[in-house]
Amino acid sequence: MIIDGKKIALELREKLKKKIMELKSFSNSVPALTVILVGEDPASKIYVKNKEKFSKEIGINSEVIKYPANVGEKVVLDKIKELNKNKKISGILVQLPLPKHIDKRKVIETILPSKDVDGFHPINVGNLSSGYESNIPCTPLGCYLLLKKAEKNLSGKHAVVIGRSNLNGKPMTQLLLKENCTVTVTHSKTKDLKKECNRADIIIAAVGSPKLVKGDWVKKGVIVIDVGINKTDSGIVGDVDFDEVSKVAKAITPVPGGVGPMTIACLLNNTIECFKRANS
Ligand code: GUN
Repeated sequence: MIIDGKKIALELREKLKKKIMELKSFSNSVPALTVILVGEDPASKIYVKNKEKFSKEIGINSEVIKYPANVGEKVVLDKIKELNKNKKISGILVQLPLPKHIDKRKVIETILPSKDVDGFHPINVGNLSSGYESNIPCTPLGCYLLLKKAEKNLSGKHAVVIGRSNLNGKPMTQLLLKENCTVTVTHSKTKDLKKECNRADIIIAAVGSPKLVKGDWVKKGVIVIDVGINKTDSGIVGDVDFDEVSKVAKAITPVPGGVGPMTIACLLNNTIECFKRANS
């Protein structure tokens, strides 16, 4: 089974579009997302453009605030504080990476946790790891929803997470624990990654290493979620060798067309959740 992220993301966006129409009829207002983009990073520009496009498509009021790469940190922090106070704004997202002279931690911690659609604020991170309601980072939330399409009952399954980033590996681990998985978190210092992967019922690969996970690394019937987006001479490939692993796996996400489309759909979902909580 190939898990069709493009289709599942489209279905989610359709569902969210309907939800916004309902919210509009109740409250006469709609969720609003402000994205801050600093500098000219080509990948970031594409991501932000897509975030704006899909927001508008489902009826979210979307605004992008752009600053040059040399903008002062205080300008960005002051803008966030202004957006925090603005009752019309449901969600704030500052696109990463930021230029070196801007302190990422300060930026993340200035965003009001209730408007932190990325789920990066320590309050949201803490709530997620305590099993409380929180904004959940968009990439692992997308992985989780795809995983649930392949397997409803995750209880007792052995999941191997490759990569321990704040963006994906760590929050993914928390989501899997909440589902009663046994989780092994692996990273660049893991002694024998192949051996760890061979024990997994579920693999979440997010390291940025092209086709790292091979056919003989996995056991028959494994479910594989591939977060990697790696540019190679033969095009964009994931962290998993799709041709090899898809022959052994019960279910697998392709790259592109797997996790990628889900990430933005989950951002839209989080924006609506922030709006609902602010208006309840
Ligand atoms: N850059 C790459 N992925 C992300 C993300 O999920 N959120 C933000 N804010 N920046 C990113």
